Amino acid sequence: MQLIGTGAARAGGEDGKDGKDGEAGYIAASLRGVTKDFGAVRGLDRVDLDFRSGEVTVLLGLSGSGKSTLLRHLNGLQSPTAGEVTVLGTRIDAGDGRGLRRLRRGIGFIFQHFHLVESMSVLENVCTGRLGTLRGPRLSLMMYPRSVRAEAMAQLERVGLADRAFQRADTLSGGQKQRVAIARALIQRPRILLADEPVASLDPVSAAEVIDLLREIGDEQGLTVICSLHQVRTALDFADRIVGLQGGRVVLDEQAAGLTVDAAFTIYDRVAQPETPQPDSTQPDSTRPDSTQRAPALAG
Ligand SMILES: Nc1ncnc2c1ncn2[C@@H]1O[C@H](COP(=O)(O)OP(=O)(O)OP(=O)(O)O)[C@@H](O)[C@H]1O
Ligand SMILES: [Mg+2]
Repeated sequence: MQLIGTGAARAGGEDGKDGKDGEAGYIAASLRGVTKDFGAVRGLDRVDLDFRSGEVTVLLGLSGSGKSTLLRHLNGLQSPTAGEVTVLGTRIDAGDGRGLRRLRRGIGFIFQHFHLVESMSVLENVCTGRLGTLRGPRLSLMMYPRSVRAEAMAQLERVGLADRAFQRADTLSGGQKQRVAIARALIQRPRILLADEPVASLDPVSAAEVIDLLREIGDEQGLTVICSLHQVRTALDFADRIVGLQGGRVVLDEQAAGLTVDAAFTIYDRVAQPETPQPDSTQPDSTRPDSTQRAPALAG
C-alpha cells in the first residue's frame, strides 16, 4: 500500500504560495529535504512537508518516529543536519538569534507537561507569554504593563479559567494547567500553534476538553495548528490532515476526512506488529495505541 497520498500534493499544489501569511491556504511553514542526525540516530529523514495557513495537522507515529523533532525544527529549537525549514516566510534554520526570537513570537508551543511556573499565579503564568516582547525582567505580576495583565485575563476568560487567575498554578488540575498553557501561548498572538502531545498527561475527559478548545481556537483565529498525538481516533476527529511518521520519514500524508481508521493504524502496524493481520476497525483492539484513550466526548 502506498501511504503517501494526496495531502502532500494538495499542500504543495498549484494554488499553494509561499511566504504570504494571514490568508487561509497560504503556506505557513515548510520543510524541504530535512534530515536530522543525532550521532548515529536519524531523527528526521528527508522530510518534505508544507503546512497551509489555517490548517490543523496531526502528526502520528510510534514513539521515536520523529514527531517532537519535527515540531522542534518548526520553532528553531533544533536545526537540521541537511535541508531547509521556512516558517512564516523566513528561513528559521538560517536565522540569527535576533531574527529567530522575533520569528518565535509568531509561534506558540504547547507541551505535554505544560511547563508552567508552578509557584506563580495563573495570571502571571499567562503574562510570561509576552516576555518576548517586553524589555527587562518581570519579577512579579505587577511589573507587567496593565494592558498585558488585561489581555492575560481576557485569554484566561477564553479558556474558561478567569476565576482561577490568582490561584497558584500548582493548585490546578492537569486539564486546567494545559488550558493555562494555551492561554499563555495565545497571548503571544501566534500565527502558528505547535503542540507536542498536549493531552498525553490528561484523563480522557480533560483531554477531550483541551482538544476541543484547540480546535475552536484554531478555527476562530485561523491558526495553523500542528500537533502530535498518540490517539488515532481523536486525531481523525480533530485534524484536517494527518501526517504519519516512521523512523523519521513521512509515510502518510492525507486529509483526515478521507482517511479510515485502519489506514491510519497502518503507520503503527508496519513497525509494531509486522506479523499480525490487518486490524479490523469494527472490533475493539487493546493493542491499538489509543484503544484505552479515546476521549469520550469525541466518541461518535
Ligand atoms: N537530543 C537528542 N539526542 C539524541 N537522539 C535524539 C534526540 N532527540 C531525539 N532523538 C532521537 O530521534 C528519534 C526521534 O525522536 P523524537 O523525540 O522526535 O520521537 P517522537 O516521535 O516524538 O517520540 P515520542 O512519541 O516518544 O515522543 C528517536 O530515535 C530519538 O531517540
Ligand atoms: Mg515526542
